[in-house]
Amino acid sequence: MDSARPAVLTPDAPPPERIDLGDLVIRRWQRRDSEAQFQAIEASYEELHAWMPWLPERRTRAQQRDFIEAAAANWPADGNCNYGLFDSAETVLGSLGLHDRVGPATLEIGYWCHTGYTGRGVITRSVAAVTAIALVLPGVERIEIHCDVANVRSAAVPRRLGWRLERTEPRERHAPGESGRGMVWVRERGDLPVGSGDQTSRAAQDGAADPTGR
Ligand SMILES: CC(C)(COP(=O)(O)OP(=O)(O)OC[C@H]1O[C@@H](n2cnc3c(N)ncnc32)[C@H](O)[C@@H]1OP(=O)(O)O)[C@@H](O)C(=O)NCCC(=O)NCCS
Repeated sequence: MDSARPAVLTPDAPPPERIDLGDLVIRRWQRRDSEAQFQAIEASYEELHAWMPWLPERRTRAQQRDFIEAAAANWPADGNCNYGLFDSAETVLGSLGLHDRVGPATLEIGYWCHTGYTGRGVITRSVAAVTAIALVLPGVERIEIHCDVANVRSAAVPRRLGWRLERTEPRERHAPGESGRGMVWVRERGDLPVGSGDQTSRAAQDGAADPTGR
């Protein structure tokens, strides 16, 4: 987070800690999730290592606990709100983070999917739901997804949801799969459907009932 500008994610108006889409639950990581998250990352190591700068090598359980500890303790004071994605049996399906690190009135969304649960819409539905909620937080006007042009599966998520590709630009390579060209996908507050009603339930509907976002 850039300390020279006002925080976008603030403790005064944090995003909800839990979003329930029925068969898919998006909730703040808790300390008790440490082992399950460790196992999910272990199982998905090859796929995540290729694209995620935070996984240059396998994590130890101690490193994993440190991550969970920070996620559990600092929400959202350190500019990050990290959610686990679970099925109704509490199986870890993936992870999604809201990050205050790209600029004024803007949050970035990052994600990964457990390799055993890809291709089912878990990430697309979660991004739709969290975006709808984040875009009605005070001071949030815009959500971005940043991904390398070579990360076709990642780019397919905002594309599937009808986001706008704002720019493609050179970007430092931080993970072995990356090409060095990045895409910035954007969803803005004005893009939300116009109408009245509860935004949280609308987010749930966006994610659950219109999964393709079309
Ligand atoms: C990027 C990544 C999260 C994408 O995962 P994914 O499984 O392709 O994404 P989703 O969970 O949204 O699933 C989408 C697929 O499910 C299908 N699907 C099934 N039911 C669906 C539903 N209800 N809603 C939306 N899509 C649905 C979609 O049609 C799509 O299928 P397709 O790929 O055959 O077109 C995953 O590849 C990953 O974890 N990669 C490594 C980490 C990474 O790169 N993170 C991003 C860094 S920028």
